Amino acid sequence: MRPVMRTLAISLPVAIAIISIYALKSEVQATEPEEAEAFPREQHYLLPPPVPLLSDPERDFENEHVAYGTVDQDELLEQPIAYSHMLHAGEMQINCEYCHSGARRSIHAGVPSSSVCMNCHGEGGVKAEGRPELEKLVGYHERGEVIPWVKVHDLPDFVYFSHKGHVRGGVVCQECHGEIQDDMTVAQRVGELTMGWCLNCHENHPSIDENYGAEAELRRAEIKDCWNCHK
Ligand code: HEC
Ligand code: HEC
Ligand code: HEC
Ligand code: HEC
Ligand code: HEC
Repeated sequence: MRPVMRTLAISLPVAIAIISIYALKSEVQATEPEEAEAFPREQHYLLPPPVPLLSDPERDFENEHVAYGTVDQDELLEQPIAYSHMLHAGEMQINCEYCHSGARRSIHAGVPSSSVCMNCHGEGGVKAEGRPELEKLVGYHERGEVIPWVKVHDLPDFVYFSHKGHVRGGVVCQECHGEIQDDMTVAQRVGELTMGWCLNCHENHPSIDENYGAEAELRRAEIKDCWNCHK
């Protein structure tokens, strides 16, 4: 083989490999940018950090959650504003989807922007003067800052979960999130979020017989298939 041909034979596959790695990386990063900004998701990896030299220099090991490293069940996180579900969703009976409007339409239920709060806490609404928690809310809103709510639920990135399919199928919020309107100020995680938790409900939920009739057995098999949740 002539030297030129030999160089080509070696460098071409290497170049293709490098390009495809970059293409794959940017594809992963391009998923749902707006939602990622509005409510940053933690980074998850299936394996603990490998040799640092071989990994992404931007990777932040300190704040990384490995696979099942979600927030502890029933842990009460400190949130930027002492918002209460008991008051708003319980006593005042504001519908969950008024604030979590993505639940029926998309993967994410979403957390409300300050402008949703300001519908009631803005001018002509509940007075903020002398009430520090409401002054904080008005402050974020006037500075145009996103309220830095801390995420309570956080599945590993290798799991596919979508609110839409569940809510439309007739699974209610409280089955997975508990009686948040009766016993929680800021949200706590109630569901285990383990694979067994998902599968157990997929095996037994009554809505599948109601919604699918003769096809119920097929649907149950479909939603227990690995690819349903790991795609
Ligand atoms: C549908 C109207 C409505 C919406 C929407 C709403 N609130 Fe309220 N909120 C109220 C009312 C009414 C009170 C009770 C005021 C009182 O005690 O006099 C209240 C009370 C509060 C308090 C307690 C104030 C205190 O110190 O006593 C906080 C904090 C608060 N809301 C934050 C929020 C945040 C944050 C949002 C958005 C995520 C929000 N609210 C959305 C109506 C609303
Ligand atoms: C079948 C179980 C299930 C049902 C039903 C469900 N959720 Fe969730 N919810 C989850 C899981 C699992 C997560 C974590 C998702 C993640 O980390 O990717 C979550 C996350 C959330 C979040 C955090 C933001 C987000 O979208 O990731 C909010 C808010 C939320 N749910 C509200 C609701 C509301 C409101 C309802 C009812 C309208 C509801 N959920 C119904 C399981 C459920
Ligand atoms: C409380 C019961 C319940 C829990 C818990 C639950 N699911 Fe489901 N899930 C259902 C039901 C019921 C369906 C079928 C909905 C239909 O087709 O009508 C379903 C369907 C799905 C689907 C297919 C529909 C879609 O949205 O694409 C996915 C994916 C899914 N679940 C993922 C998960 C994952 C991941 C978890 C755990 C983190 C989970 N589910 C936990 C009840 C549950
Ligand atoms: C007035 C607006 C409002 C209403 C109504 C409301 N929420 Fe929330 N919700 C919030 C805010 C703000 C947060 C972020 C602070 C926190 O985690 O408690 C939140 C957080 C959550 C979370 C935790 C999300 C995460 O993973 O970080 C869940 C789950 C949730 N809400 C479910 C519900 C359910 C179920 C209902 C109805 C029973 C409901 N919410 C009604 C404003 C609301
Ligand atoms: C209904 C949803 C669902 C289905 C179906 C499902 N998984 Fe999972 N799987 C999850 C969730 C949620 C997690 C993350 C929580 C955990 O690690 O327990 C997970 C985690 C995993 C992990 C990582 C375990 C670890 O210790 O971190 C592996 C491997 C896995 N699943 C393989 C499979 C295989 C193989 C199948 C098919 C036989 C399957 N899963 C079917 C939801 C599902």
